[in-house]
Amino acid sequence: MVTKYRIINDRDSGILKEPDKAKEQKDSFLEDPLAFKEYSFHKEEHYLIDKTVLTPEKEIFFNIYRMDRFNIFPVIEASKKQPSKIDSQLLNFAGDFVIKKSDIPLYHDYLLSLTELSDPSEEGKIKTIMIRENSKLIMKDLLDDPRSGKKIKESKIMVNNMVDCILQNRDAIYSMLSLKNYDYYTYTHSVNVAVLSVGLGVAIDLKRNDVEKLGTGALLHDIGKSAISHEILNKQGKLDSKEYLIMRNHVTEGEKILRTHKEVSEESFDAVLQHHEKLTGKGYPMKLQDGEIKLFGRITAIADCYDALTTRRPYKPAFTPFNALSIVAKETGNYDPELLGVFIKMLGKIK
Ligand SMILES: [Fe+2]
Ligand SMILES: [Fe+2]
Repeated sequence: MVTKYRIINDRDSGILKEPDKAKEQKDSFLEDPLAFKEYSFHKEEHYLIDKTVLTPEKEIFFNIYRMDRFNIFPVIEASKKQPSKIDSQLLNFAGDFVIKKSDIPLYHDYLLSLTELSDPSEEGKIKTIMIRENSKLIMKDLLDDPRSGKKIKESKIMVNNMVDCILQNRDAIYSMLSLKNYDYYTYTHSVNVAVLSVGLGVAIDLKRNDVEKLGTGALLHDIGKSAISHEILNKQGKLDSKEYLIMRNHVTEGEKILRTHKEVSEESFDAVLQHHEKLTGKGYPMKLQDGEIKLFGRITAIADCYDALTTRRPYKPAFTPFNALSIVAKETGNYDPELLGVFIKMLGKIK
């Protein structure tokens, strides 16, 4: 059964509301701590899935919701007992599609079923989608439980797959990126930064072994955000100076966490510790300058900034890839100009 436009959050239950109405709520929402708490709760209790994996007419065994700005709407109601078919019209709906965290294993089974059915000409594309989705799932688990050695090992395996794929076909980065999301999720951002960094590492002909270390550092670069409260992570609008200082701690928190994992090589730490440093010395946490910032720090800084610009937030639109690249390009003082040139060339085909 397919239900459209029914709001299920407690505040608004029963009221029919179109997305435009939700837009009008924006200002009051920012000042409404209860509404924010509710939104933040939904965000943490759900997992973002990718619309591109939803194949029309395919059966689905779990509920799918769409988060549009600050509201959550069911779009498919389904269970193991009562599966539902994916309606192609659903894919045109605005907003992010999410599932309940408890349904992640069913989503994983659904992804596996795609590989079984894919026709041979689609094999490459399905492979890249699987790498992207599995990397997101691993990162989501790691952010919930950053001490898990098992998940760190899995993340390294996933980065190896990512490197293999991009070495075989450089265009694979396009289908490995999660684009056009409506909200920011640390796990999606982490995977995008890893894909962009690996792509850049391959484009400058780094040795395979080094690309893997770069990719691992890039995937884990924000793992320290697991130590930051959801109130600050999900805050709408600008952080105040106290909150900003807390947020900045994610870099050193990330280092602390990763020091407990012996499998993470020393070079990968450059990506974690230096992704917010700027060549001008205006970055953090060490205010490093020029040559003091290592190659992996320079690469992840570009990837991190680009992905932040192209990501939409409920309170701000996303820049298009072209505009984001123009903004980063103007910041040549902050970022390595040679790497930036290669990065812009690498993303030339992106829409
Ligand atoms: Fe960061
Ligand atoms: Fe980041």
